[in-house]
Amino acid sequence: MVNKRTQELLEADAEHVVHGMYTIGQNKGIVIEKTHGIYLVDTEGKEYIDLSSQLICVNLGHRRQEIIDAITKAMNDIDFVTTFFGISNPYIIEVSEKLSRLTPGDLNHFHWTSGGAEATDSSIKLARMYWGRKGMAGKYKILSLYTSYHGSAGVSTNATGLGRGLMQNPFGPVSPGFIHVPPPYSYRCMFGDVSDCGQTSLYYLEEVIKAEGPESIAAFIAEPILGAGGMIEPPPGWWTGISDICKRYDILLIVDEVMTGFARTGKMFASEHWNIKGDMMTMAKGLVNAALPFAVVALCDEVYDVLKGATLMHGFTYSGHPIAAAASSATLDIYLRDKVVENAARVGDHIKQRLKTEFLPLPCVGCIDGRGVFQAVELVNDKESKAPLEQAVKEAFWEKLFDAGIFTRVAGWLGNRLFICPPCTITIEEVDKALDIIKPLVAGLEPK
Ligand SMILES: Cc1ncc(COP(=O)(O)O)c(C=O)c1O
Repeated sequence: MVNKRTQELLEADAEHVVHGMYTIGQNKGIVIEKTHGIYLVDTEGKEYIDLSSQLICVNLGHRRQEIIDAITKAMNDIDFVTTFFGISNPYIIEVSEKLSRLTPGDLNHFHWTSGGAEATDSSIKLARMYWGRKGMAGKYKILSLYTSYHGSAGVSTNATGLGRGLMQNPFGPVSPGFIHVPPPYSYRCMFGDVSDCGQTSLYYLEEVIKAEGPESIAAFIAEPILGAGGMIEPPPGWWTGISDICKRYDILLIVDEVMTGFARTGKMFASEHWNIKGDMMTMAKGLVNAALPFAVVALCDEVYDVLKGATLMHGFTYSGHPIAAAASSATLDIYLRDKVVENAARVGDHIKQRLKTEFLPLPCVGCIDGRGVFQAVELVNDKESKAPLEQAVKEAFWEKLFDAGIFTRVAGWLGNRLFICPPCTITIEEVDKALDIIKPLVAGLEPK
């Protein structure tokens, strides 16, 4: 039984709010009305630990005063001006300069958008434009991984491999020119029982490139660690192999750091774990601590130089929004001032240790994956068959997590990965509190 106000809100929600990634006409029965630090509070006054940083985007914890102040201050000067037609504003210039000091290599040039999907769309359109400028307009195909998520907009939906079918079929035909290849997901290798899933996936990718013709391929896009797929970390050597293949066949490498960027994996960018040098890099989420919609695609010097002088017939009304830029600028300052990367790495090591020693031995835990505050526990019916936890059992488990005051997702490629992705600012004591609540619930799952 919920209180009268909650009941009324839920009824109005069911009538008027069409939720994404959920059954139309329904809601989860929870209305969150306050947030602070790592906590969410609902209209019943119940507190939840936000163990997924919402959509893995509130990297600095909820409602940071510095970001609120930056938004308020900027709003007193300006509400909105466009960045179309060469018009600029001090806020977008400042955040661009700051970001260029943080991004790896020479990813120094930024095209701003409102969300990650728009950043993906932009990166793909810019990759095609790049080849057109070089007299190779025939290079238009985009390679990506099954299990990837690159967004739900027009172009990015095609690149997304997660739930391929589920995320595309209801919306009409997919665009031609998008090719998916199996990921280096060693625990459930799509190539079956091979000795090295990573190497096999590289071999397969190269064969696809040869079969399609490298002269038809514009770019390969991938997340450093698969995020929505369930924190699937590639085996050692995989990223070096990808970089080599892209170079060998003249294919642009687009690194999607929308979820993995900004301290999430214990580095400022996950690319740094493998020294990945993307030609382009997409960012969102932690870029602005999710306080406002804000995202970007970064271009390396070479791509920028080729595009220089062309008219970019692309953009969004809110591209380079000054208020979001001011919020992002304040956000970037906090990462550096508070040594958030170091905290995420330290807490991440602690999480990994606990998952390894206390969770992995449990009968329904198949494997653990990820790094930093970007980790997951794969839940299975039993270790031997590796069959994913049955849907009904998973649903009941997820409900128990909510009841116990833990807000997170049980999702991923097969929908059976428990996400451990709290804000990057979480303390070891706070994360221990969450893991202590979760552990008996995972232990209580019975092998079928
Ligand atoms: C890796 C990755 N790329 C792109 C996106 C799309 O971002 P948005 O939801 O802001 O459009 C997401 C969203 O979760 C993501 O995880």
